[in-house]
Amino acid sequence: MRVLVTGGAGYIGSVVTAALLDGGHEVTVLDDLSTGHEDAVPEGATFVQARLQDSAPVLADVRPEAVLHFAAKSLVGESQQSPELYWENNVGGSLALLEAMRAADCRRIVFSSTAATYGEPDEVPIPETAPTRPTNTYGASKLAVDAMLTSYAAAHAFAAVSLRYFNVGGAAYGRGERHATETHLIPIALQVAAGTREALTVYGQDYPTPDGTCIRDYVHVADLAAAHLLALPAPAAGEHRVYNLGSGTGFSVQEMVNAVRTVTGHPLPVVVGDRRPGDPARLVASSARIHADLGWTPVHTELTEIVADAWSFMKDLPAPHHSRARGGTLQEGLS
Ligand code: UFG
Repeated sequence: MRVLVTGGAGYIGSVVTAALLDGGHEVTVLDDLSTGHEDAVPEGATFVQARLQDSAPVLADVRPEAVLHFAAKSLVGESQQSPELYWENNVGGSLALLEAMRAADCRRIVFSSTAATYGEPDEVPIPETAPTRPTNTYGASKLAVDAMLTSYAAAHAFAAVSLRYFNVGGAAYGRGERHATETHLIPIALQVAAGTREALTVYGQDYPTPDGTCIRDYVHVADLAAAHLLALPAPAAGEHRVYNLGSGTGFSVQEMVNAVRTVTGHPLPVVVGDRRPGDPARLVASSARIHADLGWTPVHTELTEIVADAWSFMKDLPAPHHSRARGGTLQEGLS
């Protein structure tokens, strides 16, 4: 299939691009490089630097048969401080993309949605039928795009899939996480192991969980990529499907710290801090629907495998990539 990947210079987008090329698809990547890296775009893909708002001429030129839409702002804290960025980029950008698709008569789309659309769950594992009550603007902006897809499917015969990611980790096809502003647990813990950050702060040890730390559902980016390839041809025209993507198993922050210690051999000093506002105690996906419909089963489910793959990616990066700091969250000057 001839596909357009928005955000294909980012972490998940670049891994999925590599998987698409591996599967024989013809790929054009559209990315504005606001957070992505041009050198992450896999060889074999055509790269166009453009914003979603300027995507119409690109779609008119490429004439894709399908779009995989990853390009978005994705920092929960930033979304609370500067919500306009999220409404403009995630919602306005997605609307511009859908209109560009319509103009180019491309009506098949796979969209990167998020567990943040659910907010604080009433029960875990969370099924797709759970209420959607996002607790931050990031989650609300993704939920708005999910709603757009439902209406574009009904009114304009789009064939759409929203994939709601839980906690994605690991690396694949030589690609992994390297965000200028890092907020995620695994890369932060690995920065400590790599010596570019002094200590890991565990956000709260007084949650109602067995060890007092938050429980999350970690899914390997290779399994996530496989789900995108299965989802791409799945919906019929007029259909919008929603699928959770998680491993179905919860691990605590403390269990993740132990896994990082095991994989890296680093003692990983930990400081117990306050709870981070908006963090639910437990987020675990039910991925029963995508398993039943498409046969997707995550295979890289061991925490140590996810951490080991992220660690081998990070170790191979030149130091500036994993020590680069914006927003003052990294300890600078440490060796
Ligand atoms: N954590 C720490 N210390 C850190 C970083 C994180 O203790 O330095 C803890 C968090 O409190 C949380 C867990 O590690 O309990 C995981 O945190 P992440 O920031 O790695 O991931 P989140 O679960 O907060 O976020 C993920 C996705 C978001 C999505 C959210 C849904 O990355 O995009 O789930 O709630 F919005």
